[in-house]
Amino acid sequence: DAASLPPLPTTITVTGAGGQIGYALLFRIASGAMLGPDRPVRLRLLEIPQGLKAAEGTALELQDCAFPLLQDVEITDDPRVAFDGANVAMLVGARPRSAGMERADLLAANAGIFGPQGAALGDVAADDVRIVVVGNPANTNALIAAAAAPGIPSDRFGALTRLDHDRAVAQLAAKLAVAPSAIRDLTIWGNHSATQFPDVAHATVDGRPALDALADALGGAAQAAAWLDDEFVPRVAQRGAEIIAVRGSSSAASAANAAIAHMRDSILGTPAGSTSAAVVSHGEYGVPEGLVSSFPVTSDGSGYRIVEGLELDARGRGRLDASVAELVAERDAVRALGAL
Ligand code: NAD
Ligand code: LMR
Repeated sequence: DAASLPPLPTTITVTGAGGQIGYALLFRIASGAMLGPDRPVRLRLLEIPQGLKAAEGTALELQDCAFPLLQDVEITDDPRVAFDGANVAMLVGARPRSAGMERADLLAANAGIFGPQGAALGDVAADDVRIVVVGNPANTNALIAAAAAPGIPSDRFGALTRLDHDRAVAQLAAKLAVAPSAIRDLTIWGNHSATQFPDVAHATVDGRPALDALADALGGAAQAAAWLDDEFVPRVAQRGAEIIAVRGSSSAASAANAAIAHMRDSILGTPAGSTSAAVVSHGEYGVPEGLVSSFPVTSDGSGYRIVEGLELDARGRGRLDASVAELVAERDAVRALGAL
């Protein structure tokens, strides 16, 4: 209902706005692709000092589009200015892993970014703010930001696994030679990393169980299981690395598209069936409370809620447990740094 919609104009903050994903994201937000054709937007672009010029260039091009919905654009390197009154915050900027950098160094660098940004969100964002973390390691960065903003209900924070979800839908659709729109209720579980579990056990294709459709297409249940284990799961889980290898840099337009879909569905509601997002666990499916893990989710417009009661078989359980173990290790590493 209209009561749960953000105010007009809607203030949207994008961090890392001068980067690749920012360049693919901002024009679509300003065109109305995220919140619809009737919703004026104000953009707040946060960068670090080295990134300000690139963000300024993007802002010049945004002006040149003369978007009817775009009311104004402000660029800053101060999180308190960038998040002031934000209804939507898309945290894209992060410290990339450089050659020779250990995982612990990466977590420390990102704790130094997402802690202060979370605190600034808690201090100055609008009361209805919703936040999606895109910058990697996205789940743990979201955990850090949420912990630094105790005044913001933790269910307003999410991390992006919609790209993994859409990748999985696309792979399954291609295998079955159906349109992606024929597929529903697929789930990404766990971390946005190579340990994630893309799960088709409850998915349907044109209303029929995906496992039956796969068995028919591939000549039996055993062949379907082999394709899922040997091709589908690793392809989806390693798609980010595949894009980096082929393209020479990490996914940008597809990541921006997924971030738009994540925020759109959270605010305007999921169409039919569930999607996937990393959200704070309350213990669902045995995922320790407080971890930011990907789950099957739906939204009625008031934010993502975890779909409960799905069954995981022993293999699925094992895959989810492995990804959760990685999330626990990331959380413990960040705790050891004193960032939680
Ligand atoms: P990029 O390097 O092109 O851009 C990142 C931008 O962030 C840079 O302009 C940089 O100056 C800025 N930045 C760095 N620290 C900042 C800070 N503290 N505050 C504000 N801005 C800051 O990278 P990209 O291709 O746009 O990717 C951004 C992030 O998204 C990376 O961490 C990448 O791994 C991640 N990513 C996530 C997914 C996902 O599905 N969750 C998919 C693709 C990429
Ligand atoms: C992706 O899934 O495309 C990215 O998270 C990959 C990466 O490491 O940036």
